[in-house]
Amino acid sequence: MSLWSEIRVAWQAFKTRRKMNRQFGKREDPFSYATTPYEAARLAAMDAALGAAPLGPVLEAGCAEGHFTETLARRSSRVLALDISAVALERARRRAPRAVPVEADLMTWEPRDEAPFDAIVIGDVLYYLDRPGVSAEFAALFPRIASWLRPGGRLLLAHGFSSEKELAHRRSFRERFEAAGLRLVSEAVPDADRGGVRCLLSALEKI
Ligand SMILES: C[S@@+](CC[C@H](N)C(=O)[O-])C[C@H]1O[C@@H](n2cnc3c(N)ncnc32)[C@H](O)[C@@H]1O
Repeated sequence: MSLWSEIRVAWQAFKTRRKMNRQFGKREDPFSYATTPYEAARLAAMDAALGAAPLGPVLEAGCAEGHFTETLARRSSRVLALDISAVALERARRRAPRAVPVEADLMTWEPRDEAPFDAIVIGDVLYYLDRPGVSAEFAALFPRIASWLRPGGRLLLAHGFSSEKELAHRRSFRERFEAAGLRLVSEAVPDADRGGVRCLLSALEKI
């Protein structure tokens, strides 16, 4: 990364961290994961899309307060729960004490000896990183994340949308991972709806 690129990425991370810490700082569960039927249905569909087999190492990128981390921790030998917000991560730590918390910016984080992963889960995160000024770094993220999976490992994407334009944008995340060598296994929009928001759920596999 050039110096200017590093500065742009660091500035973007600073703004996202500040925004998310403020949001999580206002109250617990600002996205109402614990109380909204849409979220319960979305998390159940994500669990099903990972298949029934027990999992080895898993990365959850943008774990927030750990509502899905809890499920992953029950199913896998080791969960890395990564988030840019220390406030959210502290709650994830309490909710899923078996998971290993990582406070980091997904745009620049690199696994050390934690990879390769059996599964990587990215739910409602990528649109926070897709910002003007960091498009080259965002494009580079797709092959980087794909390289962290073991052959046969699964990537789960779950991103909300409320218009055709947003749906196409969420689909472009999956297409970028396909261009990075992952194969689409399944894609669905579960029935659940939250005030016009629905979720595009895509499961991909490393060949
Ligand atoms: C809307 S929540 C989604 C939580 C959960 N993944 C889900 O599917 O319900 C988005 C989370 O992504 C985190 N996030 C946003 N940008 C990030 C970044 N650049 N690196 C790591 N985490 C990030 C936020 O702090 C927040 O906790």
